[in-house]
Amino acid sequence: MELWCRACRRKYGINEPIWRCGCGSPLDVRIDSQFPRDRIVKRRPNLWRYREALPLEDEVRVVSFDEGFTPLIFRNFKGFQVAFKLEYLFPTGSFKDRGASLLVSKVRELGIQEVVEDSSGNAAAAIAAYCAASGITCHIYVPETASFSKLTQIRMYGARLVKVPGSRQDTARAAFEAAEKSYYASHYWNPFFFQGTKTFAFEVWEQLGFRVPHNLVIPVGHGTLLLGAHFGFQELKASGMVKETPRIFAVQSENCCPLFRVFHEGLTYLPQIVEKESLAEGIGISQPLRWKQILEAVKSSQGTFLKVSEEEIVSSLRELSHQGFFLEPTSAVAPAALAQLVKRELVHSSELSVVPLTGTGLKAADKIASKVLDL
Ligand SMILES: Cc1ncc(COP(=O)(O)O)c(C=O)c1O
Ligand SMILES: [Zn+2]
Repeated sequence: MELWCRACRRKYGINEPIWRCGCGSPLDVRIDSQFPRDRIVKRRPNLWRYREALPLEDEVRVVSFDEGFTPLIFRNFKGFQVAFKLEYLFPTGSFKDRGASLLVSKVRELGIQEVVEDSSGNAAAAIAAYCAASGITCHIYVPETASFSKLTQIRMYGARLVKVPGSRQDTARAAFEAAEKSYYASHYWNPFFFQGTKTFAFEVWEQLGFRVPHNLVIPVGHGTLLLGAHFGFQELKASGMVKETPRIFAVQSENCCPLFRVFHEGLTYLPQIVEKESLAEGIGISQPLRWKQILEAVKSSQGTFLKVSEEEIVSSLRELSHQGFFLEPTSAVAPAALAQLVKRELVHSSELSVVPLTGTGLKAADKIASKVLDL
């Protein structure tokens, strides 16, 4: 088990209290994951049942709300088979608890008392909650424009909020500077966050009777779920548990789609994006740090990038609500993209597509009321 850098190939011990490489690039965890199926199935239905694949040395340090093993439910989607994974049923209302549970547990194991994170929403809420549960001081940097209900949630967990004027990028810069003197528990920089999100893949595999689906349709901003799922399925393959991995369809909003553009225009750099407001605020990331890694993951899976319009997001959100799923608008982009895939015959009716429903609508009720219902 070790930390390693894709850019310069340098390696570090797994317990070094660092969050990036000396060369300035992000790090990843290399781990020889094991999946003892007969032991796994006897354990509690939470994400820690895959402990032989998680880079923690001491189980006593685990910070957990018994999270994970979210329901995977089957629905008929315009004549096609879809399994929705209800990731909005986590304790803080989004899939980010996967990453937070692992990362904060590791922070505790490393003996770190204080962390910094920047996000305007779900990732910050998740980190703040797990820090609250473990007595770790947490400084959250947010853009001045962050949504009121998410800020309320973060504040209620007792995190110290620092509001930064300007763009999302300005907030990231301020947090980055603060992290020089502290530990950066960033959901996109820190390699341990992705070690938590990879449990998404393990759960899907187990819930499908130890098989993989044909397709995954995933919203992508910084790619914490997409890369986590990719790592997870790769580890299952490397350990001989599965032969194939799913095709990954990555979804962005038309109003902010740097990765879609790099992929389809064959760019070798991230284009400058003029940020436009979108209902899908969770994926409004114009400069995703791990963009090369995300591109590679999608390409190697034989998948592609899709983009959805604001109208498609609204109609998908409405349709899902009418089936009993109350989601935040960002979560509607993947089902909206599945509708495109079906229409363009990019998926076959005999194939199973897994679609995560990533965040609860309860945090975005005001926005939904004004932008979707016209209340
Ligand atoms: C509800 C929701 N879905 C999807 C995403 C996308 O996650 P990522 O930015 O890690 O790709 C986010 C990110 O904040 C989110 O809040
Ligand atoms: Zn490096």
